[in-house]
Amino acid sequence: MAIVDAKAMLLKATEEKYAVGAFNCTNLIQMEAVVETAVELKAPLILQASVAPSVFLKPRVIAAIYRTLADSAPIPICLHLDHCNEVEFCKVCADAGYTNIMIDASKQDFSENIRQTKEVVDYCHQLGGVSVEGELGTVSGVEDQVRVSEDEAALCDPEQALDFVDQTGIDIFAPAIGTAHGVYKTKFPKIDFERFEKTAKLINGSKLRVPLVVHGGTGLQPDVVKKLVALGGAKYNVSTDLKHTLIDTTYDYISAHRQEYNPGKVDKTVKEAIKARIAYWIGLLGSAGKA
Ligand code: 13P
Repeated sequence: MAIVDAKAMLLKATEEKYAVGAFNCTNLIQMEAVVETAVELKAPLILQASVAPSVFLKPRVIAAIYRTLADSAPIPICLHLDHCNEVEFCKVCADAGYTNIMIDASKQDFSENIRQTKEVVDYCHQLGGVSVEGELGTVSGVEDQVRVSEDEAALCDPEQALDFVDQTGIDIFAPAIGTAHGVYKTKFPKIDFERFEKTAKLINGSKLRVPLVVHGGTGLQPDVVKKLVALGGAKYNVSTDLKHTLIDTTYDYISAHRQEYNPGKVDKTVKEAIKARIAYWIGLLGSAGKA
């Protein structure tokens, strides 16, 4: 199936009211687990790599693995660079073969956020086949090299969001609505649904133009997830859940098998655990059977 940029995939999701799972991976086992599960469930998929794993593994290596996995998968798959706050590295990853780039200049003031985001948009669109995600307001918590304290976190202003979308020409938009990266301190974080709905209406009310992204997906209760999807969340990001699954499963396996030196068995156990989490998210997001 085609390797795709994210926009068409997410416009379809918005129209049909489901969300595509966008899963942050740091290694091959995770990538394989995610792709295998999406294929089994016939779900469209966004594989994400944030900046640290992209630098560590090298963008061309990640893109090559992804193309190999995607080439034989009968579902649309997009490779997304997550939360990159450096314009030049966005360009490096677009050149390497990522098909969706997130420039996160949300910590900058409004005009500088527009300037940097537009520079990445212009570059990727001229390259062709690469869509761009931008963010307005700041999502609190830690996602790789992007750290935002609760004091710094600012929610997105819907009117400004429309201006941002129009001026930058972005393909996908991430509004800050109170979700957070990492582990929530409370079971019931305060999510600003009204703000999300108003933003969705202003941007996509008269004509569906720019799909919306929900960041900070780990830890939200199922009813919250479903509500955000119903209001127009078309891309749903999950990172922390997969990191915890990887580390905890590895730790538990090794603790229980201290005398065994068989990495393949650790990998297999981790892969099964990740697959179970991906199946959970795809089920909740309603994307099974939509490929
Ligand atoms: P979590 O940390 O909640 O998994 O959020 C991931 C995310 O939004 C990546 O951009």
